[in-house]
Amino acid sequence: MSASLLHPGREINLLDALPQTRRDPAARAAAKTTEDRAIAKKFDRDFFDGERRHGYGGYRYDGRWLPVARRLVDYYHLPPDARILDVGAAKGFLLHDFLQVLPRASVRGLDVSAYAKANAHGATGSLIDLGSAEALPYDDASFDLVVSINSIHNLPIDRCKTALREIQRVSRAHKFVTIDAWRTEEEHHRLLDWILTAETYLHVDDWVSLFAEVGYTGDYYWFIP
Ligand SMILES: C[S@@+](CC[C@H](N)C(=O)[O-])C[C@H]1O[C@@H](n2cnc3c(N)ncnc32)[C@H](O)[C@@H]1O
Repeated sequence: MSASLLHPGREINLLDALPQTRRDPAARAAAKTTEDRAIAKKFDRDFFDGERRHGYGGYRYDGRWLPVARRLVDYYHLPPDARILDVGAAKGFLLHDFLQVLPRASVRGLDVSAYAKANAHGATGSLIDLGSAEALPYDDASFDLVVSINSIHNLPIDRCKTALREIQRVSRAHKFVTIDAWRTEEEHHRLLDWILTAETYLHVDDWVSLFAEVGYTGDYYWFIP
C-alpha cells in the first residue's frame, strides 16, 4: 500500500456545495419531547416524511446532492469505474447522483431503514442493503470511497467506534464521514437543542482523538446546526 493511502485524514468540508438550511435549535428544544425522539429514532416514515418534529418533515429528491457527488469524485480523483459505498444512504439520493457523475461506477448504500429503501429515489432501492453501520456486509478493501453523512453518530459511542472501524476496513483508499460536533459552548448548546436521533456527539478535538483510537484514517467534517 502506498504511503498516501496510510496518510491520516483531514478536516475538510466536502459538503460545501449543499444549500444552507435554516435551523432554529431553540424552537425545536422548546417543542421536542421524549416521545418525538423515540418516534424519530425508528427511522421509519415519520422520520423521513412525517412532521418536522419527528425528522425531515418531507425528504424529497431535489438534486442538491449532485454538486456534492461531483465534489467527492473530483476531490478523490475517482476513476470512471469506481466502487463507492454510502453508509446511511437513506433514500439513495447521493447514490443516484454519483451515477449521474460516474455512470460506470459501482455504487452501494447501506441503511437501517426499510422505509427509506422501499421509498428510494429512482432505481436506487436495489442498490441499498438493509443493515447497520457497525456490521458492514462487504469484503475488506472493497471500495475506493466510503462516505457516511450524518449517520454513524446515531449509534452509542462504542458502536459508533465499531462503525468507524468497519468503514476503515471496507475502504481500500478514501473515506469521508460527517458527524454531530461542536467547537464552542454556544455550538454545544445549539447541538443539544437540535438533536433528535444522535447518541454520540463530541467536541471536535474528542472526535479527532476517537478517530486515532479506532485507527480511522479517513477525512471528516462536522454537522454543527
Ligand atoms: C440524518 S439521516 C442522513 C441521510 C443521508 N446520509 C443524508 O445526509 O441525507 C441518518 C440516516 O442514518 C440512517 N441510520 C441510522 N442508524 C443507522 C445505522 N446504525 N446504520 C446505518 N444507517 C443508520 C437512518 O436511517 C438515516 O437514513
